[in-house]
Amino acid sequence: MPKSAFFSALQAELDRLDQAKVSKRNENVIESFTSDPSPKAVIQGKQYTIFNSNDYLGLRHHPVLKEADHATVEKFGTGPGAVRFISGSLQMYKDLEQAIAKFHGREDAMVVSSAFATNVAVMSCLIKGQSKESMVSENSLVISDELNHRSIIEGIRAASIDSTHKAIFKHMDAEDLRRVLEENKGKFARIIVVTDGVFSMLGEYQDLAKLRAVIDAYDATYPEGIVLVVDDAHGVGCFGTTGRGVEEVCGAKADVLVGTLGKAFGTDGGYVVGDKVVIDYLRESAATYVYSNSISPGTAGAALKAFEMMQEAEGTQLLKQSRDNIALFKKLMSEEGLVFAAESTHPIQPLLIGDPAKAKQVKLGLYEMGYLVTNINYPVVSKGRDEIRIQISAAHTQTEIETFVKAVKSVM
Ligand SMILES: Cc1ncc(COP(=O)(O)O)c(C=O)c1O
Repeated sequence: MPKSAFFSALQAELDRLDQAKVSKRNENVIESFTSDPSPKAVIQGKQYTIFNSNDYLGLRHHPVLKEADHATVEKFGTGPGAVRFISGSLQMYKDLEQAIAKFHGREDAMVVSSAFATNVAVMSCLIKGQSKESMVSENSLVISDELNHRSIIEGIRAASIDSTHKAIFKHMDAEDLRRVLEENKGKFARIIVVTDGVFSMLGEYQDLAKLRAVIDAYDATYPEGIVLVVDDAHGVGCFGTTGRGVEEVCGAKADVLVGTLGKAFGTDGGYVVGDKVVIDYLRESAATYVYSNSISPGTAGAALKAFEMMQEAEGTQLLKQSRDNIALFKKLMSEEGLVFAAESTHPIQPLLIGDPAKAKQVKLGLYEMGYLVTNINYPVVSKGRDEIRIQISAAHTQTEIETFVKAVKSVM
């Protein structure tokens, strides 16, 4: 059967990935969580303290969010029923979008099923018009930080533009962005500059103030100007004094900001905020929004509660606890002589290992001792910079952080 020949090729590819030890599908399966304030993952009956989650504030187990989820399900049911333009939006989606827009100080927000789908929507739709009749020309140059997240790359691919319409600037190098803008003067109607806010491998962040200064200097050079798109999935909700992310840390704003509900906000889904005209345009043209269900109503209810909480005393306290935990962790690590792959003030803290085999050993050693961490290897990080990515949560207790650092030291 010809089909079995194709499936054999699929199996051969799986075997290749397994042999290269880069397969991802045999992940740990978490059977349940313990019910203490810093919940542990239960895997094959054993408890593990989690140091590899994006749930930076511990909100996914928060009783108030769970309660909001349940109450919203009671009111709106367990699913959206259809995409929004078919059988109508739920009021909960509207309420959530208003809360998100207000939180980020923007005119409007649009919620999509995930931040990945949001980036695909934003990039494909801003780069060029989505139909032959569209009033939006194809004449954009998209300039991307060389280490941007896969979802941004897929969004650019979804626009189906040729390589002459794409450029990269060196990682976190505003002067290199200036070079690209200078070289392309007069060649394009508009420029889309796109970057991650916080980069998830090292916890480092793009200096938006520097990018903004370069962009503002060149804005008038292009007939339709320059739009700065920032995906701050790892920053929103947990970074900056009030959790407004890299924008708050840098004191500069994106034109279009993408965030996720699935990390610090403890729920699931993605969103984009910006001027009303941009969001309206995306609601008309973004395939991953128009033709795909939104998040579940319960998730929206819980997410709305998370945004409310961030602006109350509890949110302020969680952010302070997050900062205190990060500071304690860094202090204890340096007292033990352990070296980081980068200096980070974000919950992502990368322990430098420098060798892929050793990184795996350290991860497995910590697993044996009841800790979940992630090893990150070349080519995701540069050669010799293999690391253990540790993610600190506001829910971690002081004792957990102290015993974890001792465990890291002993395994190293
Ligand atoms: C920078 C960045 N953008 C987008 C995403 C995708 O987020 P989501 O899980 O909401 O699709 C991730 C997820 O890891 C991310 O790190």
